[in-house]
Amino acid sequence: MHYLRLSVLCALAVIMRPLDSAATPFTPNWNDMHTKHRWNTIPGKWESIGQPPDGTTIDLRIALKPHREHALTDAIYEVSNPKHPKYGAYLSKEQVAKLVAPHPYTLNLVEAWLGHHGVPTSNVSTSHGGNWLTVTGMPVSKANGLLGASYQLYRYAGTNETILRTVGYALPAALHVHVQTVAPTTYFGSPLTLRKRLRGHRGRAAAALSARDDIVTPAILRSIYNSVTYQPAATEQNMIGVAGFLGEYVGDDDLEGFMRLYRSDANDATFLVIDINDSGYDPNKPGDEANLNMQYTQGIAWPTPHVFYSIGGVPGNFPPDSFTPASNDEPYLQWLDAMMRFEDVPQTITTSYGGEEQIFPPDYAKSLCELFKQLGARGVSILFASGDEGVGDGDCKKNDGSGVVQFQPVFPATCPWVTSVGGTMEYPEVAVPLSSGGFSNVFARPVYQADAVLGFFQQLGNQYSGLYNASSRGFPDVSAQAFGFVIILNDDVEIMEGTSCSTPVVAGLISLLNDYQLSKNRPVLGFLNPWLYGIASQGFNDITSGSNPGCNTDGFSAVPGWDPVTGLGTPDFQRLLDRLPIPIPVPTN
Ligand SMILES: *[C@@H]1O[C@H](CO)[C@@H](O)[C@H](O)[C@H]1NC(C)=O
Ligand SMILES: *[C@@H]1O[C@H](CO)[C@@H](O)[C@H](O)[C@H]1NC(C)=O
Ligand SMILES: *[C@@H]1O[C@H](CO)[C@@H](O)[C@H](O)[C@H]1NC(C)=O
Ligand SMILES: *[C@@H]1O[C@H](CO)[C@@H](O)[C@H](O)[C@H]1NC(C)=O
Repeated sequence: MHYLRLSVLCALAVIMRPLDSAATPFTPNWNDMHTKHRWNTIPGKWESIGQPPDGTTIDLRIALKPHREHALTDAIYEVSNPKHPKYGAYLSKEQVAKLVAPHPYTLNLVEAWLGHHGVPTSNVSTSHGGNWLTVTGMPVSKANGLLGASYQLYRYAGTNETILRTVGYALPAALHVHVQTVAPTTYFGSPLTLRKRLRGHRGRAAAALSARDDIVTPAILRSIYNSVTYQPAATEQNMIGVAGFLGEYVGDDDLEGFMRLYRSDANDATFLVIDINDSGYDPNKPGDEANLNMQYTQGIAWPTPHVFYSIGGVPGNFPPDSFTPASNDEPYLQWLDAMMRFEDVPQTITTSYGGEEQIFPPDYAKSLCELFKQLGARGVSILFASGDEGVGDGDCKKNDGSGVVQFQPVFPATCPWVTSVGGTMEYPEVAVPLSSGGFSNVFARPVYQADAVLGFFQQLGNQYSGLYNASSRGFPDVSAQAFGFVIILNDDVEIMEGTSCSTPVVAGLISLLNDYQLSKNRPVLGFLNPWLYGIASQGFNDITSGSNPGCNTDGFSAVPGWDPVTGLGTPDFQRLLDRLPIPIPVPTN
């Protein structure tokens, strides 16, 4: 809707183009194609079912590299480091767009390349800030030529879920330094591989469990995390967002029933729904994940206003002969694309989804992570579940056909610009075995956690060396209870476990801290991690026992200080209140 036409940008680009480059016309060799990304084998359980029907078209998204490579990173660290004079001076949507804008030369070059392949400029639009281009309606045969690709239909074994992807793609050598990634290409992602982080007990098992005295409810969480007495005071300004994928919808009646039973002072809980890309939102078809997420953010943060993002991308059921390319099968990208356009975004967002990092082409994971960074620079605290597979599920073989075993980190939890939440159980708390944690194979270790991770390595010694990447981002950052959660689904009690439980709890508490800051006319917490690993680290209950088994190992152990099972520990709301940043007021514009 707020598309800026490429032609407009190019007119601008010509004016801004440095004189020397205008004076030396240069036509790259568009046929000098170099691989951008290629898998050794068809990833995972996908199988080729051949060419798409004649006339099939595809919408390509092209992520361009920003003109100033480090500008956004510098900016987010300034505004989220409590010791920096610019702390809390979050950027507007427009300021972020300026920082990530590509160089005019980049746009010129990409336009020339598309022109060379006969793509009319009217088929090309740009996302806010010009950082992503979308080329619509391209015939697949043309896309094959443009990208040195071989698009085919792939079906997920045992299902009818069909996607249009290529095992590899290339770009002209001249474009490699200008283009971050092209999608959809080699991300064999689909709603099926975007897992919910959740396991549940139904029927008799649930009944038996809910009779026990160790089940978890909002009252218990508010008590052990010390938030019972806090009265939200900035509900006019504050908001918390819950992301919902995979056709997960929130049941209104279930929420009402849950609040009546477990938060009886809060029986008017309500929320706003924002539908992104035809999610088919239907409150009469509630899902366990969406209900859990909403019931627990409400249970903790009520009466803070809530928004539920209902994001399209329900598993497709396409018999091959009637395939219509669902351009809506990259749910994160769709959601983030929409978030980049919204003027107002909630100060806190909880997201209980993720998948093995290794299924994401590294350039694609980095491009998504950059979009989370953009939200962080705007002052949004983004929380992601760390995953429910300990250090990894199954045999943990790499998906490159090499047979090498390695621990399997979870993305987007490994993105350094989100806060990832692991799990605990019991009281006093110990790590819950399912809590995913470890080290990325894509993202380098961010400075904010350097000391914390080194402290862990000193305790680990050389155990597991070779199974994890010792130079990279460690996760999770923090944790909370993740076992025995009571929810209401279709009027029945169910008991849930997983980091899907812990994430909305931490998000609810962060939202209350934001409420406090707003009520004192202070900036919200924004991108949390520099604060978390700094003064806030003493506001967490350090978890020092339990472990996260997986990949036929005992997994990592929870130890004093940060560890890749429970992060810094579980939140103590009162202690965190005492450690909130009090910035020197700076003029904003
Ligand atoms: C441009 O868009 C039109 C209309 O959607 C489509 O028919 C055509 O194939 C597109 N051309 C290219 C090269 O993408
Ligand atoms: C796949 O589609 C066919 C035809 O529509 C249907 O009969 C079959 O049950 C579907 N299979 C699955 C696993 O959904
Ligand atoms: C999602 O919806 C937006 C706004 O309606 C639209 O511009 C965009 O093309 C859609 N994206 C996909 C992948 O369907
Ligand atoms: C280890 O992580 C770094 C990022 O910090 C990455 O560049 C490197 O490729 C990873 N190594 C392996 C073996 O995956």
